[in-house]
Amino acid sequence: MNNAPIGVYDSGLGGLTVWREIRRALPGESLLYLGDGKNCPYGSRPREEIRRLADEAVGRLVAEGCKLVVVACNTATAAAIDFLRAKYAGVPIVGMEPAVKPACLATRSRVVGVLATERSLDGDLFRRTAAKYGEGIEVLMVPGRGFVELVEGDREAAPEAEACVRAAVKPMLARGADQIVLGCTHYPFLLPVLERVVAGRGVTIVDPSPAVARRVVQLLDRDGLRSAAEHRPEFAFRTFADEAYRRRLEQKAFESL
Ligand code: DGL
Repeated sequence: MNNAPIGVYDSGLGGLTVWREIRRALPGESLLYLGDGKNCPYGSRPREEIRRLADEAVGRLVAEGCKLVVVACNTATAAAIDFLRAKYAGVPIVGMEPAVKPACLATRSRVVGVLATERSLDGDLFRRTAAKYGEGIEVLMVPGRGFVELVEGDREAAPEAEACVRAAVKPMLARGADQIVLGCTHYPFLLPVLERVVAGRGVTIVDPSPAVARRVVQLLDRDGLRSAAEHRPEFAFRTFADEAYRRRLEQKAFESL
């Protein structure tokens, strides 16, 4: 038994979409969320810089006693997951898995779209996954330009959000994609807009966060790390930005349930 929290980290608000799935899957666990905030967005920063930021964040969560850390950021996973696992070898670390595999298995049109940040898309992880599962399938990777800024700016419902999403999704629809993978944890906050844009086109939107939550459950069970039955879960929020941002994280976490 281990009543320590599970750490969940992202560049900002996006990882809350993973946080809520973990909370749903493991309602008895305490969660400690760290949304960098100060350096967000990560999406077009150099890989070395993202690695340094991820190191600082995961180091903080480990220092605070987290029993497992979820890197709820595709960009940080792509840039730093091996480095983080080697450096913090005593703590299980779960990264984001681009959901290209389920999308490739489910596609009927044999065209799959992947939306992610620039740095995720030019990294090895996405390319390797697409090559592995996408044989004979056209995998179209398109950066969600402006998506993270919309979410961070609380503008998911603003008119420019629809224009932004439409521009990214257009080439996918034009090629006949029937699966669109959300390869950035901020993007599920744009689901209402995405669903409006693809309405009537027979498209399934694939969010990997429930699968990441299942992986966390597996690892806790494998390592005997579940908290005690009588444990009262606590939900704490940290940031490298200011107190106002920390409060926003907390508010958004509970309003997005
Ligand atoms: N939410 C992050 C991801 O999953 C990163 C967004 C960003 O900071 O650019 O990729």
